[in-house]
Amino acid sequence: MSLGLVRALQVIEKKSNDIVVTWTTFHNTHESTVEYGVDYMNKRASGKATVFKDGAYHAGSEYGWSELFFFHVPPQGTQWPVRAAIYGDMGNKNARSLSYLQDETERGNFDLILHVGDFAYNMHDDNGRRGDQFMRQIQPIAALVPYMTCPGNHEAFHNFSNYKARFSMPGTTEGMFYSFDLGPVHFVSISTEYYYFYKKYGTDPLYNQFHWLEKELAKADKNRAEHPWIVLMGHRPMYCSNKDDVEDCSDELTRVGVPRIGLGLETMLKQYAVDLVIWAHEHSYERSWPLFNSTVYNGTKEEPYRNPRAPVHIITGSAGCQEDHDPFFMDLKGKVIDSFWLIKDKLSFNMP
Ligand SMILES: [Fe+2]
Repeated sequence: MSLGLVRALQVIEKKSNDIVVTWTTFHNTHESTVEYGVDYMNKRASGKATVFKDGAYHAGSEYGWSELFFFHVPPQGTQWPVRAAIYGDMGNKNARSLSYLQDETERGNFDLILHVGDFAYNMHDDNGRRGDQFMRQIQPIAALVPYMTCPGNHEAFHNFSNYKARFSMPGTTEGMFYSFDLGPVHFVSISTEYYYFYKKYGTDPLYNQFHWLEKELAKADKNRAEHPWIVLMGHRPMYCSNKDDVEDCSDELTRVGVPRIGLGLETMLKQYAVDLVIWAHEHSYERSWPLFNSTVYNGTKEEPYRNPRAPVHIITGSAGCQEDHDPFFMDLKGKVIDSFWLIKDKLSFNMP
């Protein structure tokens, strides 16, 4: 069949067991259908959303169907540990982590995947064919678990049009910024790229996202009893220490704001006690101590991550692309390179 095979499953806003199936075809098939079911495929969803239960599905229409995929809807409620694979900067070439990701996803080790910007290098190349190829490449994982995204600088072409068209995220911003709950975690995804492309695409999105985020985090902070953890992701880091990228690492637009406009985000992260912030862009892995205003806010010297007093920053941009890795990189062939526990005795580090 002549379908571009792309299926990504994504979590719809607020209900962790609502599922969106997205795919791309080369030709207009006039109708778009998902057939699914637990023991056999006896249910159909056309165009709009419907309840999706554990089981098998395929997508397409009478003009051609995809192969069969299997999917587990994430549990309801908040009392379960979320297992996520998180990375950014994965290209078509040299996607060296893909085999590990596929293996572990197929073994059922992940509840969701977060791709923290920079896809395909670049999705718009070759009139979008590079993007088609990339979506086929991630299909073995994106068809099995929710594949949640944020935009990176490599998506900026034509005002992020490839990114907006290929992924279906919650909310009404075409995936540029949004939030969702999963288990005990409130996830927030933002576009750091508004801070770098405002001269080209205008300042309105910059203001819109800033005001949305302020309300969003205030609400999430009040809702700690239900979702005690707030995790935020965006593409370009606020801090990094790669020696080869002094320019990127000293650029503070998202942290302190852009010249003559402001709208820096770091104060907000501290004010609403975001627990963990995840970035990519640097092609390496880096973990910070709890940080605010370039100052360390460890719980104690002995236990920096027990009751930290500021957000902890992680950079995870070493999934693999043709630009290769930054100096921190070390390929351990899938072995664990680092681990840490973030522990808090209060719901929020701002609570007395
Ligand atoms: Fe980047």
